[in-house]
Amino acid sequence: MTVTTEPPAFPMRRTCPFNPPPQYAEMRETGAPTRVTLAGGGTAWLITRYEDVKAVLMDPRLSSDRTRPGYPFLTDDAAYLAEVRVFPGMDSPDHQHYRRMFIKEFTARRIRELRPEVERIVAERLDTMERAGGPVDLVTALALPVPSLVIARLLGVPEADRPRFLELTELLLTGRAVPAEGQSADEAEAAAQERGQEAFRELLRFMRELVKAKRAEPTEDLLGRVAAEHVASGALDEWELVITAMLLLFAGYETTANMIALGTAALLSHPDQLALLKDSLAHDDGAILPSAVEELLRHLSIAELATARTALEDMEVGGVLIRAGEGVIPLAAAANRDPAAFADADRLDLRRTPNRHFAFGHGAHQCLAQTLARMELEVVFGALFRRFPDLRLAVPLDEVPFAYDAVLHGAYALPVTW
Ligand code: HEM
Repeated sequence: MTVTTEPPAFPMRRTCPFNPPPQYAEMRETGAPTRVTLAGGGTAWLITRYEDVKAVLMDPRLSSDRTRPGYPFLTDDAAYLAEVRVFPGMDSPDHQHYRRMFIKEFTARRIRELRPEVERIVAERLDTMERAGGPVDLVTALALPVPSLVIARLLGVPEADRPRFLELTELLLTGRAVPAEGQSADEAEAAAQERGQEAFRELLRFMRELVKAKRAEPTEDLLGRVAAEHVASGALDEWELVITAMLLLFAGYETTANMIALGTAALLSHPDQLALLKDSLAHDDGAILPSAVEELLRHLSIAELATARTALEDMEVGGVLIRAGEGVIPLAAAANRDPAAFADADRLDLRRTPNRHFAFGHGAHQCLAQTLARMELEVVFGALFRRFPDLRLAVPLDEVPFAYDAVLHGAYALPVTW
């Protein structure tokens, strides 16, 4: 008699908001990729060892093309992404062709130029928090508005339209299913989905108008410059610029927001490390911030589920044959805790260096805006703990609504006080 066992279900859920699910360490120790069942019914191979994740992310035999059969969408409802043809879902040469049009917007020099503006945005939010007095929800007070306003500035949303942009982006993520009086949980969920979809449609309209305006009158910002250079030359059409602007918003908003919220929660839960940060802010102008941000990115690996590939040919990884057409999920959160690559890998160590983690991916699709994300996080954590050195959670850690069910790790709310 043959006994067939169903591959385990994926995603596996975190049991602690800061640490990968315990199964990751077990899978990594076996050294071989593990086959899993996805929520939509398909299967995929999980890659967990540091060296294997690195090799897979560099390997041109693995495709990011969402339209290929076998691409491992985590859920059925994520499959609609296949219809949106933007460069993260393409392979080279198309991927390189389109990515190149945007690279100039994310150079170290451009990001340095943006820094004073980011500092101003953060300072204004902290002023508002201070006036309101604690306790406040750090997610709605700081984590969501900062990345939204930074993206608005990056794209070139006119000052007068930023409050509307902020409102719409917040509706995308905060339309949570809290049942109203007399409403069932299902009704509340449907209403929340409807609010999110309406906000999405509105944002798309907003972006179309914005791109049209930049075409008519290019300004000194991302959309203005790309419109003047690539849309004017015919290399990109207006609609492609609209959906790329939407992509930049989607790629950069919730990720950075979640790093702000989860990063703050992690710091507040590691008093020895928080003391190092505060000491550095007081004595050497926050010299520890770059390595602290790097370590929080590694330790929390909030976007570990955002990286998926399909094998284009039969190939061997960790002694296992992966066949052409099968899905492959390189798990940054497992690789970033691999003891073969990081000493004391499960420890949060803000002074860790070197720190060659995969929180931004690796290889051709590595995060286009990682310099921007790092800068935002340095500004936020520096300013937050300078302004509120006594910041603390306003509820016990186990009462914080962490987003255990989400694709990006974060928190739905983070009540803090000072
Ligand atoms: C790609 C993480 C912030 C834009 C990626 C990938 C990861 C990632 C893991 C690789 C996906 C893959 O290999 O398939 C993060 C994290 C962020 C962050 C953790 C914040 C802490 C941002 C921001 C933006 C952005 C602020 C833009 C404003 C992009 C784009 C890609 C990307 C355009 C696709 C690159 C390509 O396929 O060539 N990001 N990201 N990200 N990210 Fe980020």
